[in-house]
Formats: sequence, C-alpha cells, structure tokens
Amino acid sequence: MCGIIGIAARRNVADELYDGLKRLEYRGYDSAGICTLSDGELERRRAEGKLHNLRTKLDEAPLSGTIGIAHTRWATHGAPTMGNAHPHATDHVALVHNGIIENFKALREELIAAGRTLESETDSEVVCHLVSREIEAGASPEQAVQTVLPRLRGAFALAMIFTGHSDLMIGARKGSPLVLGYGEDEEMYLGSDALALAGLTQRICYLDEGDWCVVRRSVADIYDAENRPADRDIVHSGASAAAVEKGNYRHFMLKEIHEQPIVVAQTLKSYLRPLEEQVALPDMEFDLSGVTRVSIVACGTSSYVGMVGKYWIEQFARVPVEVDVASEYRYRDPVLEEGQLALFISQSGETADTLAAMRHCKEAGITTAGIINVPTSTMAREADLLMPTHAGPEIGVASTKAFTCQLAVMAAFATNLARAKGRLPADEEREIVRHLQEVPECMNAALEREDVIEKVAAFVAKARDVLYLGRGPDYPMALEGALKLKEISYIHAEGYASGEMKHGPIALIDETVPLIVLAPSGPLFEKTVSNMQEAQARGAQVVLISDDTGIDEAGNDVIEYVRMPKVHPLIAPLVYAIPVQLLAYHVAVAKGTDVDQPRNLAKSVTVE
Ligand code: F6R
Repeated sequence: MCGIIGIAARRNVADELYDGLKRLEYRGYDSAGICTLSDGELERRRAEGKLHNLRTKLDEAPLSGTIGIAHTRWATHGAPTMGNAHPHATDHVALVHNGIIENFKALREELIAAGRTLESETDSEVVCHLVSREIEAGASPEQAVQTVLPRLRGAFALAMIFTGHSDLMIGARKGSPLVLGYGEDEEMYLGSDALALAGLTQRICYLDEGDWCVVRRSVADIYDAENRPADRDIVHSGASAAAVEKGNYRHFMLKEIHEQPIVVAQTLKSYLRPLEEQVALPDMEFDLSGVTRVSIVACGTSSYVGMVGKYWIEQFARVPVEVDVASEYRYRDPVLEEGQLALFISQSGETADTLAAMRHCKEAGITTAGIINVPTSTMAREADLLMPTHAGPEIGVASTKAFTCQLAVMAAFATNLARAKGRLPADEEREIVRHLQEVPECMNAALEREDVIEKVAAFVAKARDVLYLGRGPDYPMALEGALKLKEISYIHAEGYASGEMKHGPIALIDETVPLIVLAPSGPLFEKTVSNMQEAQARGAQVVLISDDTGIDEAGNDVIEYVRMPKVHPLIAPLVYAIPVQLLAYHVAVAKGTDVDQPRNLAKSVTVE
C-alpha cells in the first residue's frame, strides 16, 4: 500500500531516501515525503501527488542530515493532500506508517480530549502523538514505543526518528512487512521490502510478526511482541536495482508483457521434468492424494487464475473446486472440512484480504498452499505448501507477467493433483508436458502481433464501453481483459461468458461498443462464434482474437482480427493473455493515461 524507507548512515541521506522512494513508488503515489534529523532537529519536505513534486521541493529547499525516513502514500484515511502526507511529526518524533490503525478514532478522541492538536486526518498521526506524549512524560524513545505498540490495533509497519537522537531509528511491524538492511560500514536501513533497499544493501533481515527494532548506524536490536530480545536471520536479498529499471521500454508494463516468454519458461523449468515427461511440484512432500476439495482464494487478476484453475482441476483431477474473491471469503463463513486444501494466489504475497483468508483457514486447521511471486512475502512464509512463481519483481501496477506465471504453476498443480488422484495416465501427462513446453514459443508468436493490436487499440480507445467474451477457461481471460482495460485506460469494460450475453448484456450492444471475442479454435469455438454472431446481428463491432482455423471460419464480418498461433486449449489462457494485455496497454497509451501508475490504485493492497 504505502512504501517506507529509513536510513541511518554517516553521510547526507536525503537523496538516497528519494531514490528509495522511486523504487517504492509502485506501492502508492498519492503523496510522498522525507524527514531528516538536521542538527538534532526534525526537518520535513512533503508533496502531494507523484514523486517528482517532492523532488521539486527538495531542489528548492534541500534537506541535510545523516539519518532520515521517507514515505510514499496510497491514501486510506484522509484525502491525498499534503497535510495528510507522511512523515507525520511532533516536536519529538517523526513517523512513517504503512497499514491501518483500526482503533485510531478512539485514540484520536483520547488525544484531543487530552488537549492535543492533530494536524492531519490520518490514522498514522495518532501514533506519532501517542509516542510523543510518552516522551513528554519522561520516557526514552524506546520506552515510549514499547508502551504505545500494544495499544495499536490493525496493521502497521512503522519507522520513527526522534529529536535530539542523531543515531536512533525505531521500526515496528505487525501485519505489514518491514525489512531491516545491514550496510557495509556504519549504515543501517529499514524498508517496506527488499526492493526498497536494492542498490543500498543485499543483507536483509525480515522482521517477524510483532517485532520491533532499535536501529543505530552500527547495530540493530530486535525485540519480539513480548519485548524479548529476538534473533532473526540475515539473508541475501538478491533484489536487483536493475529489476526496477525500465530498460529500453517506455513503460514497466510493456517491459513486463515482453518478459513473459522468459519468466514463464523460468517458472515452468522448476515444475517440469522433461526427461521423465512429468510435471512435479518442487519440494512438495505433502500427499495430494487425500485432497477431496480445493478452495481457491485470491483477489483481482490473481482470482482469474483461480477461475481457470477450477476448469483445469475439475477436468483433470475430478476434484471439486470453489473459487472466492478473498474479500468475501471469511465473511461468508465458508464450510471448512477435512480433506480440503485451501489454495491462495498472490503476486505480492501481502494482499491483506488474501492473507486474512489464509490465516482464517490455518486457524481452522486446513492445509494452505500458496502460488506466490514474492518469495519473502508474508504469505510465502505462512503457507504450509509454497508453489513459487518466478516472474521476478513486477513494478507495473497492472499485473501481467505474474499472472501468466501463476497460470503456469496452476497447470502444474492441477496435473500433479490429477496424478495423485490416479486420474492421469502417463501418456496424457506426457501430452500436458509437451503443451506446457510450447508456451514460451507461442507467447513469442503472440507478441509479434503487437502492430495489429496497436491498430485495434486506436479504434477501442474511442469507445466508452467495451465488452469481452470467452468460454470455458477463456471466460476468465475475458474478465482479465476487461479488468486490464478498465484499470489502465479508465474505459468501462466488462467480461462475460459468451453464452451469458443473451441473458442480459446483449442489450448493451450497438455500433459504438467494441466486442472483443477470445475464441481459439477447439471444442468450444463454434458455440462462442454463435454468440458472437448473435451480437453482430445487433450491430456489434467485433474484434476476433483467434487462430488461422478460427479466422478462416468466422473472420468475415469482423472489423478486425488478431491472428494468433494455433495452440492446444490447455495453454490457450496463457497465450491469449498476451493480446488482452497488449490491447489494454496500447489503448491506455493512445488515451495518454499513466500506464504504470493508474489513478487510485496501488500495487500491493495491504488494507482490507
Ligand atoms: C490487476 C491487479 C490486481 C491484483 C490484486 C491482487 O492488474 O494487479 O487486481 O491482481 O490486487 O494482488 P496480489 O496478486 O498481489 O494478491
């Protein structure tokens, strides 16, 4: 949601804090700010909107100081104004926060009743005042933080610096991630994730739930939730600053779309055993044969992977599957029973709704599995069975490469489950392996259609509403196409199962509404085409995305077609992801929107 970074060093840190914010901007970009301690006094610069506004302020009035904290915000409580921008500060402490303090109203009232004046509408400022009040009453910063933390309900990652303490930074985490970075020579860091610290240090320590830490240039003391000194491993982060560069691409999203053949191949490599012609799950000792039901839980784009997974798992393994969006899961009081496997899908591994659903299942004694991209994330660490995707850091807010890697892992999982359930003859598994191996090459072929898609985009960019159709496993792809278009081009779009059109949505059709039809040739092709023709008869402007066979059969009356490589139906969702992503991308570029940082969104949604 928000991104935080803190540095304690022997040099001026403002520019490095700013560079850290650049790496964190994908987490939120409503406002940004930096506070340093200069001659023992807290000094802040804050700006509303994108990070470059903060740069302007820093250029006008540079900050000095060898210790500082910084924040990039995705607004939760309080409008995205400068007044609500972090760091928040009193005379004694400055603080940055990621997460939500759920009991902030009660705390705020208590502070106001005690005569304190709060400047912002945020939940975070309350923490600042609580700590400050303890210090004013004579507590040391450490004692003040220790007293205040147990009073906070909700989720937080916090970093604080204190007036008059030129070698002290305090961090704390509960529910939101926080990493501690060890520099080479008298320098220490705090950050929301390893990426924030990429380029500064590779020696990282992931704080555990409830931990807080007292950080000085040359040492960090970590305490657990009970204030006992805690030892946490220092690990090599491997996060590379280059991963957060755009290279020759105009946008991260375009770079990430084009990376897909490589990262999907990388992901598949750890799930395929080409010599044995088998699919395998890495380091998975869990016996899948006892699984009698699979519950898949995820949000947004990741939830569409779950929908595709339902088709695959039920088809191959004949195990019943339910798919839920995570924000609904706990609240519908789902039936949880022995034999059930709860499977969570998340790029970030930090999405609050999905994490809460995972914890709900764990508390009920249900085995949890995770298809997760960020290996060090909370979900990756808490899942009983981890099935990693190897997409690398995804910076564009709209998920692309993580999505197709998730699909690849889902296919591997469905195949393994089918084998474990005795439902998969060796020759069928061999075929699956062969088709999965074809994916990277087919994706490359799909990427070669970019020029046609750009042409289609020029037409779609003029529309007010756009509909997407697909059937079977391509139906979730229609939903994904619509979501991608909405979030980055701000054009209203909906995806429908093609057979559903006639039950309502067809009323929307006229010559102003482009209809994007995803119809690889195969068993469901003719039915999809019938639905497409019903819409064409009512004036629909169809863009058909299909292969040679499909286009020869049904491409006559469409306004444009995108000729895709012919693929086996199993891998169609992976390959057809490319044209829907490219279409959304080029429409957004045609409309001039902010592709990588669309309005109101954040990459990692760590609030419910
Ligand atoms: C859309 C998108 C979001 C995420 C959703 C879940 O392009 O990226 O819908 O898929 O917020 O995020 P993760 O996968 O990190 O749990």
